[in-house]
Amino acid sequence: MTAAKPAGSNKIATLTGPDGKVTQLPIIDGSVGPSVIDVRKLYNDTGYFTYDPGYTSTGSCESKITYIDGDQGILLHRGYAIDELAEKGDFLEVAYLILNGELPTADQKAGFVQNVTYHTMVHEQMTQFWRGFRRDAHPMAVMCGVVGAMAAFYHDSTDITDPRQREIASYRLIAKMPTIAAMAYKYSVGQPFMYPQNKLSYAENFLYMMFGIPCEDYKMSPVLGKAMDRIFILHADHEQNASTSTVRLAGSSGANPFACIAAGIASLWGPAHGGANEAVLEMLAEIGSKDKVGEAVKRAKNKDDNFRLMGFGHRVYKNFDPRAKIMQKTCHEVLGELGIKDPLLDVAMELEKVALQDDYFVQRKLYPNVDFYSGIILKAMGIPTSMFTAIFALARTVGWVAQWREMIEDPQQKIGRPRQLYTGAAKRTYVPVEKRR
Ligand code: ACO
Repeated sequence: MTAAKPAGSNKIATLTGPDGKVTQLPIIDGSVGPSVIDVRKLYNDTGYFTYDPGYTSTGSCESKITYIDGDQGILLHRGYAIDELAEKGDFLEVAYLILNGELPTADQKAGFVQNVTYHTMVHEQMTQFWRGFRRDAHPMAVMCGVVGAMAAFYHDSTDITDPRQREIASYRLIAKMPTIAAMAYKYSVGQPFMYPQNKLSYAENFLYMMFGIPCEDYKMSPVLGKAMDRIFILHADHEQNASTSTVRLAGSSGANPFACIAAGIASLWGPAHGGANEAVLEMLAEIGSKDKVGEAVKRAKNKDDNFRLMGFGHRVYKNFDPRAKIMQKTCHEVLGELGIKDPLLDVAMELEKVALQDDYFVQRKLYPNVDFYSGIILKAMGIPTSMFTAIFALARTVGWVAQWREMIEDPQQKIGRPRQLYTGAAKRTYVPVEKRR
């Protein structure tokens, strides 16, 4: 990949320093969306760093994978709208698209599915790891550990300079993640691990490994299989979010892909990121009933109360998260299929209605995000809340791997090394312990 130098790159921004010195900064246009001011030479030319904690105004890389227009509520993967992909595609097709840039032909798709399927089992010796964990370990703790440990088992795909090894590592990560996640669940409930069934689709296989048991046939519901597949699609990639940036930063040092994805899993675990759908369900249960929604909204607006409406708001979307709309539809389909009347869905719908009419949320452009409905769907499927983020991680592995590969293949790639605004003590002299007060 080369640096973007399309039309418009001859535009210049000028910066005047306190000493009156004028510095010219090139502006680079992307294909769509905001242009960027190229500050790469800023420190050399002026002695200043930029300051942007939380990176709200910083483009950390050039990428061709995912485009988000947060004001319009648009999400495109390689140019295709997420709602079209979720409606018409399936997860492995979307995975191929995200990784390779184009939708696959029928032959390419068959080959890709075969490659992923071929790698679904984990090395038998890896199953020993699980015994080292407590049964009540959080699945994300298990996944961080086991995915990082893959580097100890698959040495033949850790040479990041070899494109074939990078490709095999990608297949291994995407293929084994459902197996690893399902094993974390099986271990927690004391049931035997289920080997993958390669005749099943990616999403169905995951449900089979989660809920199948060796002594009975597992009856697959196509509606649930499709819903799971859609949840995977909706979580497959989301541009330079915290976990993806973590994967890129870890990978920028040349770390192996398994270590990088383990770092991504760690970052995703937090409640402000992947842990949000777990937190949404806890919040809905805490609210309890429709008549308590007003009270919850009041608390969320109170700055002296650290209660927030989980599943509401997004760093980038200042409009409806397009994934939330699809999730809401899927939620109704799944509950209908299972004949479940979940009071939490009533609470969720009332909460959405009240918040969207409330000035506080309207003014701050806080809309439901992808996590608002996904928890209700997963709960209806019988998936415990502790597995929610693990499911997010397995789907996002596609995006992490694609972004990691894009970075490694970028000739301009260098180790990520942000600077800082230092506000600590200036140089001082060491005081021996007996003289300190
Ligand atoms: N409930 C109540 N108020 C909120 C919420 C919320 N969920 N989200 C933001 N606000 C308020 C803030 O208090 C702030 O108000 P102020 O301007 O009066 O101080 C304003 O809206 C802006 O909020 P920030 O925290 O500055 O926005 P930021 O972009 O940093 O945060 C985030 C985005 C972390 C997602 C936030 O909206 C949040 O915590 N939401 C709940 C957690 C959640 O659902 N996370 C999932 C994100 S999606 C994902 O990771 C897949």
